[in-house]
Amino acid sequence: MKLVFATNNRHKLDEVRDILGDKVEILSLKDIECFDDIPETADTLEGNALIKARYIYDKFGVDCFADDTGLEVESLGGEPGVYSARYAGEECDSEANMQKLLQNLTGKNNRNAQFRTVIALIINGEEKIFNGIVKGRISETKLGNSGFGYDPIFIPEGFSESFAQMTGSMKNSISHRYRATEELNNYLNGKYD
Ligand code: IMP
Repeated sequence: MKLVFATNNRHKLDEVRDILGDKVEILSLKDIECFDDIPETADTLEGNALIKARYIYDKFGVDCFADDTGLEVESLGGEPGVYSARYAGEECDSEANMQKLLQNLTGKNNRNAQFRTVIALIINGEEKIFNGIVKGRISETKLGNSGFGYDPIFIPEGFSESFAQMTGSMKNSISHRYRATEELNNYLNGKYD
């Protein structure tokens, strides 16, 4: 079967192809010649993933899925959540986002947080939602240089190092994205095997 993944991010495409294996051919937005800037205007991760998947399904008539990820911090009521990429402002980078988060946690004892990835799948018009969560906590300072986004300040449960101090393969084996993709994989296996 063929599924369009509503992204052109090479890293995400490789990771998903790796997990789903040979049973599914994963096409990117470029592969279907979609160069549109798909709006992400919802105020939830589920909402944004669905907007992107529905946009592709409605315009191109192909089975597809889309993802959205956020870092949810308990003592900040789930912030930055769906706004993770632009927490410190539309034009801001990861550095500014991390500084804002550390600042907002100053003096708070509860530093529990989780990364959550939502995948919205549409096959023959039927919509399904999958979640992948990795629980952890926000460190006091930045630790490590690998990865991207909030990796230097996120310490996953059961570890003493941040995502940015781990090898890429270690992080990818426990990550929110990996877990959401595994959920998708299990669903496809059950449906088509
Ligand atoms: P996206 O939905 O995958 O584009 O993720 C939205 C934002 O969440 C990114 O811009 C990052 O700030 C953050 N993010 C997503 N995944 C990760 C991760 O694995 N590590 C650190 N930050 C992440």
